[in-house]
Amino acid sequence: MSDTDAGLWCVVPAAGRGSRFGGAIPKQYLTLHAKPLLLLTLERLAVHPRVSGLMVAIAADDHRWPGISTCLGKPVATTNGGAQRSDSVLAGLRALREQVGDSQFVLVHDAARPCVRTDDISRLIELGVPAGGALLAAPMHDTLKRAGSDNRVVVTEPRDARWRALTPQLFRYGELVAALEAARSAGVAITDEAMAMERAGNRPLLVEGSGDNIKVTTPPDFALAEFLLQKEG
Ligand code: CTP
Ligand code: MG
Repeated sequence: MSDTDAGLWCVVPAAGRGSRFGGAIPKQYLTLHAKPLLLLTLERLAVHPRVSGLMVAIAADDHRWPGISTCLGKPVATTNGGAQRSDSVLAGLRALREQVGDSQFVLVHDAARPCVRTDDISRLIELGVPAGGALLAAPMHDTLKRAGSDNRVVVTEPRDARWRALTPQLFRYGELVAALEAARSAGVAITDEAMAMERAGNRPLLVEGSGDNIKVTTPPDFALAEFLLQKEG
């Protein structure tokens, strides 16, 4: 099967503690529309015709994982995540070694982004495969300030050409594993897959996605996600 029509596995990092969110239950297990947020995210991915399976990285002590092995007919597998998001992504990728060839593309999508749209995933794949790698991103709308340690403005940063990196991100399996491993060996903290690929000399394509593909990080984000999903019906 060629790159342009092959099914894609998606790694879903879901092993975080949700420290900025607070509360007793990790945010990915909060109930949204009568379901755990994590399941909503998995359904968003599984419903996409190009997604062939989901590899979810969960915390080693996660007792809330529902134990599913399929989602909307697609296979779902889990592996233990790690201390940082990039460790969880790498663990998920390594767990796919048998299923995915080095030159095949994989998606990575945050468990904490339940509002991702099918057509954004489609565009990411359509544009990202020929580009050799890509991420969904949204242009900055607010004016950007750089602060000093006293919280006073040092400078107003130019806003043009600044984007917020979202997920999913799409890269070739072998290249992404190598880039994440190299960053780990160098002790560099990596906050998204594109950053690891950039370090390795790649220039991922920014594919404009909907700004409402929010990451649930704090309680107001959760309320916004609830509203956005309700609006969709
Ligand atoms: N994640 C992960 N493994 C980690 C840290 C994060 O799999 N060690 C996942 C989270 O579960 C989430 C995604 O990466 O789906 C994005 O991370 P973030 O929003 O930062 O979630 P948390 O790390 O859980 O939150 P916080 O940083 O506030 O603790
Ligand atoms: Mg985090």
